[in-house]
Amino acid sequence: MSAPRPPARILVGYQSLSQLGTYIASRRPDLEVRARKVAEITKADLDWAEAFVGFRRPPANGTGNVRWVHCVGAGVDAFLFGDPLPDHVLLTRTSEHFGPQIAEYCVSRALAWSQRILELADEQRARRWTPRHPDTLRGNRVVIVGTGEVGAAIARAFDALGCDVHGVSRGGAARPPFHSVSTTSALGDMVGEARWLILAIPLTAETVRLVSRDVLARCNGAFLINVGRGALVEEEALPDALDAGWLRGAALDVFATEPLPPDSPLWARRDVLISPHVAGLTTVEGAAEGFLECLAQLERGERPRMTVDRIRGY
Ligand code: GLV
Repeated sequence: MSAPRPPARILVGYQSLSQLGTYIASRRPDLEVRARKVAEITKADLDWAEAFVGFRRPPANGTGNVRWVHCVGAGVDAFLFGDPLPDHVLLTRTSEHFGPQIAEYCVSRALAWSQRILELADEQRARRWTPRHPDTLRGNRVVIVGTGEVGAAIARAFDALGCDVHGVSRGGAARPPFHSVSTTSALGDMVGEARWLILAIPLTAETVRLVSRDVLARCNGAFLINVGRGALVEEEALPDALDAGWLRGAALDVFATEPLPPDSPLWARRDVLISPHVAGLTTVEGAAEGFLECLAQLERGERPRMTVDRIRGY
């Protein structure tokens, strides 16, 4: 596909990054920038725009005159999975580095669990002196599904704590800091040895419900940490997996439906730590600079460095 001509009318669809449009306009006063809450974007906005910048898909039908979508998140499933953008629309994604932040999220959940922080907080509130012994992470086997930038940052963090860090990827190619890597087809064999099972892959036709009930049933008391997308897991099977002891707990930042519906059985469980999709947060500056970098490349007639590979889905 040839690169689209550089756009002059930019539509920004935001949720929390309400300053994104202003930031882009201040850096490029020659452009027309229209910023709207993504849920309020209309067909007329899409007909007006030549480029769209955002993380979620606007509710209005079609893509109007938009020839380029710049996703300000790492995962581009909103634009490719299920209802892909038409082929003539260029898709690029942010160049922000989420790895270190997501690695801290994963380590914080693992340590909260191994150090029994929730139980100790309960004892503290009850003014009870009840020694509870922490487990150590040292020597634990960590299986990280996804060996890209985010997976590698998570691997470095657990490696530094003395864990045995194993990766799972499409090709299974060896990649430091992973001590070993196997292919996705071997996931079912790998999970039985995992003390910590971490999901850091994009949602694509290949990865949807990768962690199926069958894979969960082959876990041997692993603690699941999901920082990818909710639909990577057969979410309805999680309560059974926890009750059966296939999983001993889970920290979930992402869900098949977000916000997680109030009637989800996951909310009330003591063995589940829920967070509202905050493990890797896009910043206004990072989002804007990634867009401006891609725009500058288009203006020089180049294909943007962060162009998404539509076959791989990331
Ligand atoms: C967040 O989930 C992202 O994809 O950036």
